[in-house]
Amino acid sequence: MPNLTYTRMVLDETLRLYPAAWMISRTAVEEDEIGGYRIPAGHTLFLSPYVTHRRTDLWPNPEGFNPGTFHPGEQQRRPRFAYFPFGGGPRLCIGNNFALMEAT
Ligand code: HEM
Repeated sequence: MPNLTYTRMVLDETLRLYPAAWMISRTAVEEDEIGGYRIPAGHTLFLSPYVTHRRTDLWPNPEGFNPGTFHPGEQQRRPRFAYFPFGGGPRLCIGNNFALMEAT
């Protein structure tokens, strides 16, 4: 399965355009500042893989289906969280590798 490079590229591109979890949320445990915005403690922040995966400043052809976007090595050219269909950090999807194996 690891040799099915193009299959994986198609799956990654599918999850870019149609991330099954299109919105996730976090609650700020303490006050913070993100990108110049003050975040009061206790406030809920929504992060959308769907929207981020279609940002024109991160993706050359956001609305198009182009598996080449995920050619090995391409990922390193983007910011780490330009693409997060499985979330990130301590609550990263624990089923991510299983899901990708099943999909393949
Ligand atoms: C394409 C398939 C899947 C996608 C897109 C997906 C996406 C996600 C995302 C975005 C999160 C993080 C939610 C958050 O940060 O609030 C998550 C968490 C989680 N996922 Fe998945 N998931 C997939 C398949 C699976 C499968 C197959 C399993 C189990 C066999 C699984 C088990 C979990 C669990 C247990 C968590 C919670 C982890 C935690 O909070 O510590 N997921 N998933």
